[in-house]
Amino acid sequence: MGAVAGPAPAGTRRELPASPPGRPIPVDGPDRLPELLAGADLYVSAAPAEAERENLPRVGALGRPAIVAATGFRPDDAAWIDRVSRQIPLLLEPNFALGVRLLARALSAIGPVPAGFDLSIVEAHRRGKRDRPSGTAADLGLRAQRSMPLAPLPETVSLRAGDLPGIHQIWITGPHELIRFEHLVLDRAAFAEGMLWAARRLWDRRAALPARRYSLDELWPSPEAP
Ligand SMILES: NC(=O)c1ccc[n+]([C@@H]2O[C@H](COP(=O)([O-])OP(=O)(O)OC[C@H]3O[C@@H](n4cnc5c(N)ncnc54)[C@H](OP(=O)(O)O)[C@@H]3O)[C@@H](O)[C@H]2O)c1
Repeated sequence: MGAVAGPAPAGTRRELPASPPGRPIPVDGPDRLPELLAGADLYVSAAPAEAERENLPRVGALGRPAIVAATGFRPDDAAWIDRVSRQIPLLLEPNFALGVRLLARALSAIGPVPAGFDLSIVEAHRRGKRDRPSGTAADLGLRAQRSMPLAPLPETVSLRAGDLPGIHQIWITGPHELIRFEHLVLDRAAFAEGMLWAARRLWDRRAALPARRYSLDELWPSPEAP
């Protein structure tokens, strides 16, 4: 197992969520990515979108399945991301927190709301997060819209403050009542754990894993699964 970060001095080792307890793993700069990938089964990355513009096409060329967390891609990134997803199995999700997946699934199940109810999204993240609204807010908004076709288009409010790791609220407001769904990230480890969970589930399917985009939804256990 190896890890790549921004410019990292040779010989750097770090405790990472994927490293066995008490055994920090070597961290290298992106220039060593091709070499590391040659000996790797999977590419699991939470680097920023700018880094993925360089890294992911290399991963595609080497044919390793990829689990990628970056958000904030531009519309003109769609073409190369599509090209990569025809080379490798690619799981690119705006939010790997498993609780957000539960929230998304709950929203998909709500169904039409009575006339007069409004749908709103409030999202808050750390100061400096570049994309606004967050990729998760956009995704939750789409789901809510699909599930509640009679509600007006959601209004979205984005806050950037302090070190907040991530809050998403869905408000369904009627004339005299409010239903509020909320997901709070209590620790950024939620993202890392979710990525490793997804990586294991994708890996379990490696015998039949054609190159294409995958989603966390399709990796979700069915109700009958243990
Ligand atoms: N999908 C999700 O669940 C989820 C959750 C949280 C964040 N995100 C997204 O993930 C991205 C990173 O967010 P963050 O808040 O963790 O940013 P961050 O604090 O800036 O961390 C970025 C990480 O990427 C490393 N890195 C920088 N350049 C790299 C390169 N060229 N190749 C490989 N690694 C490189 C950095 O290494 P150094 O420490 O050495 O600089 C650092 O470890 C953002 O797009 C964010 O929106 C997604």
